[in-house]
Amino acid sequence: MALPYFEIRGGNRLKGTVHISGAKNAALPIMAACILCEGEVILHDVPDVSDVRFLAELLIKLGVHVERRPDGALRLIVRDEMNCLAEYDIVRKMRASICVLGPLLAKRGQATVAMPGGCAIGDRPVNLHINAMRKLGAEIDLVSGDIVARAKRTKGTELFLGGPFGSTVLGTANALMAAVLAEGRTVIEMAACEPEVVDLANFLNKCGAAITGHGTPRIIVEGVTELKGCEYRIIPDRIEAGTFMVAAAITNGDVKLENCRLDHLMAFIDRLNAIGVNVERVGDLVEITSSRRLEPVDVTTQPFPGMPTDLQAQLMTLLCLADGNSVVTEKIFPDRFLHVPELNRMGARLRREGPTVIVQGVKRLIGAPVMASDLRASAALVLAGLCARGVTQVNRIYHIERGYERIAEKLVSLNADIERKEGGKE
Ligand code: EPU
Repeated sequence: MALPYFEIRGGNRLKGTVHISGAKNAALPIMAACILCEGEVILHDVPDVSDVRFLAELLIKLGVHVERRPDGALRLIVRDEMNCLAEYDIVRKMRASICVLGPLLAKRGQATVAMPGGCAIGDRPVNLHINAMRKLGAEIDLVSGDIVARAKRTKGTELFLGGPFGSTVLGTANALMAAVLAEGRTVIEMAACEPEVVDLANFLNKCGAAITGHGTPRIIVEGVTELKGCEYRIIPDRIEAGTFMVAAAITNGDVKLENCRLDHLMAFIDRLNAIGVNVERVGDLVEITSSRRLEPVDVTTQPFPGMPTDLQAQLMTLLCLADGNSVVTEKIFPDRFLHVPELNRMGARLRREGPTVIVQGVKRLIGAPVMASDLRASAALVLAGLCARGVTQVNRIYHIERGYERIAEKLVSLNADIERKEGGKE
């Protein structure tokens, strides 16, 4: 099979303006939430990436009509409520399929969702999702690797969503979606505060839900009996925006972002500023410029509003070129370091000690064939290729295409030398 790969000739300064797409991680739970709605839902700014296509495939199996309109909007409408099964073949391709659990249970009274396994970035258990469903009145069994959940109607309750690594983003989404149609009031303590959770709550409220406190660790949901479809625009993708910010900085470029929310990226911008990268709002755009000298900094990932784990690999790539030593600590997914050996192949000096990586700054990276391992690690390798001397071949780019819309095209429009070719390595 001819596998696609990226060939990147490093060294071009990026310049120009790029449009940031809608957020994949907001779009996925909102698409799943359509299971809860009577009538048509129109979603604007759903990115055209493979994770969205996987979820659309699952929703179609679950009786939802999903259609990309000529204007790019996604139209979803429930046509048949018979099937309540998310099978392993789909869930293993995309863990985010777990977010159909809450809406299926709440709307159809039952859900069978294959238990997701581990993935490249760690174990990724779903115990907090299951506890939340139980608390909301579901009977849960684990049958041949499937989570089987049943409840005539979910019941309002008080539930706590903290685990050893803080709250859970998709767990909060599932709890919210299971609680909106519940009988009575639900209080979710230690809810995730990520902008994607807030976007889901705003969408549900527009459909007629009664949610308050989203964006804080305590969310209150007053159950309602019905949700109606609505028209909604997904928030801009903060992780894509952050990735382009690093692309600008790492090539010493001058790039402007369109459709970027700085209030979703405060901790990341704080680290960029400390490194010597300027991020400024200029009218409706956000401009990124940097000085030649990059300062080393220490970075620790945390739940929102802290530094996002989904930008750890990209920021580490920038720190590879800083003038001194940096320390990067991962507090959400302590094993999310598959980019480390690949960056070392390109001349980086990275040493891992448990959940921490010591980054010794080097003068330059050198092009090499490398392997993408997961979505954000792949983005980091593309960034490394953009500034490396010589040619970088990034293999297994199906990982990057899960979550970045037309990334090569967007980079080319900013003057990067990157080509998508066939004939890569597995
Ligand atoms: N956790 C548990 N038990 C659970 C659920 C999570 O212990 O039941 C732990 C996880 O193992 C992890 C921490 O809690 O240590 C946080 O995980 P979380 O549940 O918040 O992750 P998620 O909801 O499965 C979403 C994003 C990820 C992003 C994380 C953290 C989507 C589709 N995925 O995953 O995005 O890294 O939140 O912000 O929204 C990506 O886009 O590349 C990506 C991996």
